[in-house]
Amino acid sequence: MRLIVRQDYDEVSSYVAYYVKERINQFQPSHDRLFTLGLPTGSSPIGVYHKLVDFYRAGKVSFEHVATFNMDEYVGLPTDHPQSYHTFMWNHLFKHVNIKKENVHILDGNAEDLDEECRKFEAEIMKLGGIELFLGGIGPDGHIAFNEPGSSLTSRTRVKTLAYETIIANARFFGGDITKVPKLALTVGVATVMDAREVMVVITGAHKSLALAKCVEEGVNHMWTVSAMQMHPKGLIVCDEDATLELHVKTVKYFKSIEHVHHSIIGPHNLGLQGNLLRNMTDIETNQAAKRRRRLMLQSLLNDDDQEARKDDLSSSSSSEDDERHAKRTKTTYSSEMYAALDVNP
Ligand code: GLP
Repeated sequence: MRLIVRQDYDEVSSYVAYYVKERINQFQPSHDRLFTLGLPTGSSPIGVYHKLVDFYRAGKVSFEHVATFNMDEYVGLPTDHPQSYHTFMWNHLFKHVNIKKENVHILDGNAEDLDEECRKFEAEIMKLGGIELFLGGIGPDGHIAFNEPGSSLTSRTRVKTLAYETIIANARFFGGDITKVPKLALTVGVATVMDAREVMVVITGAHKSLALAKCVEEGVNHMWTVSAMQMHPKGLIVCDEDATLELHVKTVKYFKSIEHVHHSIIGPHNLGLQGNLLRNMTDIETNQAAKRRRRLMLQSLLNDDDQEARKDDLSSSSSSEDDERHAKRTKTTYSSEMYAALDVNP
C-alpha cells in the first residue's frame, strides 16, 4: 500500500483528479472496452470531481467510454432528493461531462427487492469485467463505502444499517437533523471494493486521522474496514497533512521518502511503473530543472556513493550534457538531504 501526503484538500484533489485522468487515458477505452470506475460521494471527492470536469472541458479526458459504479445509496430517499447520492453525482460530475446515462450505475435505494438490486449490481460489475479503479472515501470511524465497523471484510453489495456515528456525521447534509438521515443504505461490500484492480482512497481532515493511523499502522481489522487496503495488491491512500496527525512522525517520513524515490524515477504524479508511463514522462514533467534532477537521480541509482560530488552536480548550472557526464562518473548515497534536494513540486 502506498501513502501519498499532500499539503491540503486542494492538493489532494489535484493529485487524485490527475491520476484518474491519466488512468483513463492510458487505458484507451473504446465502445467495447469501457474503463470501469468506482466512485464515492461525500465531501472528500467534490474537489476531485470539479477538477475532472475542468480536465474534460479542457479536452484532456473523455468519459464517453467510461462506466461508473457508485459505492452506495441511502434506502428510501427519493432519487431526486437533494441529498440522494444520485443527485450528488449528477450535480458534481455526470451532468458536466460526456458520460452516457446507460454507463452510470448507482444502486436504487427504492427498489422493491433490495437484495435483488444488490445482486444485480454485483452482476453488472462482473459483466463489465470488474472495476479498473475504485476511488473511495472514508468516514471518521474508518468505514469505506457504508461498511461500518464490524462489517465482514469479505462482504458484498448489500443492505446495511448505518452506525450512529455515521448518522451524526451525515446529519450536516440534512440540516443537522439526525431524524432526517436515513438509517439504512445499500452499499458495495469491502470485497467488492477490494476486487477492483486498483483502489485509491482519499482521506482528509484531522477528524479522520485516527482512522488513517489504524489503517496504516495497525493490523487488518473489521472495526476499521478501510484497513482491508493492506491486503490489496495495488492500494493507494492520498491524504492531507491534517489527516496524518495520529500517525507516527517516522511513518509519515517513511512514506514521504518512498515517494521521493518513486518521484525521482517516475515523475511527480507517482503513477506507477507499469504501462508506457516511462515513455510518457516527458508529457507529465515539463519543468526542465526537475527533469535534469530526476535524470541525475536515475543515474545515481545505477551508480553509487559520493554524495558531495552529486550535490555539486545538483546545484550547478551546467548543461545537461555536463550533468550526464558527471552522473556517469560520480556515485551517490541517498541521504535525507539528497531526497530533500530532489523534492521538486509539480
Ligand atoms: C458517507 C459515504 C462514504 C463516504 C463518507 C465520508 O458515509 N457513504 O462513502 O466516504 O460519507 O464522507 P465525507 O467525505 O463527507 O467525509
